[in-house]
Amino acid sequence: GIPKYVKIVEVGARDGLQNEKNVVPTAVKVELIQRLVSAGLSVVEATSFVSPKWVPQLADARDVIEAFKSLDTARLPVLVPNLKGFEAAVAAGAKEIAVFASASESFSKSNINCTIEESLTRYHDVVQAATKLSIPVRGYVSCVIGCPVEGMIHPSKVAYVAKELHDMGCCEISLGDTVGIGTPGTVIPMLGAVMAVVPVEKLAVHFHDTYGQSLPNILVSLQMGISTVDSSIAGLGGCPYAKGASGNVATEDVVYMLDGLGIKTNVDLEKLLQTGEFICKHLGRPSGSKAAVAFSQH
Ligand code: HMG
Ligand code: MG
Repeated sequence: GIPKYVKIVEVGARDGLQNEKNVVPTAVKVELIQRLVSAGLSVVEATSFVSPKWVPQLADARDVIEAFKSLDTARLPVLVPNLKGFEAAVAAGAKEIAVFASASESFSKSNINCTIEESLTRYHDVVQAATKLSIPVRGYVSCVIGCPVEGMIHPSKVAYVAKELHDMGCCEISLGDTVGIGTPGTVIPMLGAVMAVVPVEKLAVHFHDTYGQSLPNILVSLQMGISTVDSSIAGLGGCPYAKGASGNVATEDVVYMLDGLGIKTNVDLEKLLQTGEFICKHLGRPSGSKAAVAFSQH
């Protein structure tokens, strides 16, 4: 049946801000993360230790993480694409990381400049180094429904990459519909294929809302037993290497739906709405959360 508690993984500070035209000042990022933690989010993805030539928006990763050195009330994972990023993350004080592979060969090339197999080899080394330091690793699979270049991706490819990440020691596998084209019609068979090779309690779903399908996709994922959901404050996001991809599903909308279903999240919706207002005000545009827009009109 549907889970009683859902863990939300807030990705706005990373997946959202990596895609902003204007670089957001470090102090604003730090305040955003602080507010997200205060709203009750237990996992707040903070930034990425990637090449600043590829993602200049997150070139201040070290400063962001160093601001939270003594925080122990929430987990602040960071993305790393290789050992170099891993070492920089650890040096800055990161206690948790995520690696990001793809089910699409073309997307792998455009996002991390290597083949799927090369990325898995790299991540194997990263996971080994992390395990030595007792650092938990999340593994992302991108393009789990489709790819901007290759079109539809077969569920067996997603299951293959998810299983490889799980077998190498990733403790959680997040399945990303990077372009946001999935519907329950394609999400259910994809999840079925992955659940045949990775235990459902290790799986998370990561939907982008390009076609407005995130909430139904999350609902069917919950019905299939998944209890970890990625989302982004105010629906920030997109991907610099997936043209046309819009933001992640908004955290406010997810919490509103989960509250309605009587599912516990430990997130304070009121504080979350204020956090969304804070970052939208800074970015100078309206919220991508329908719930936030509706509440602001009350
Ligand atoms: P490359 O150019 O093939 O790498 O990029 P390289 O090893 O040849 O290095 C090139 C330069 O980058 C060198 O510097 C390296 O030192 C440096 P130079 O000698 O030219 O001065 N470099 C680094 N610097 C800082 N940190 C590092 C690092 N590694 C190398 N970790 C690379 C390969 C993987 C580095 C690059 O492609 C990259 O950084 N890609 C990251 C792209 C990215 O962050 N994309 C968005 C995240 S994925 C996503 O959004 C999907 C997700 O949300 C799920 C979903 O929605 O489906 C997770
Ligand atoms: Mg994403």
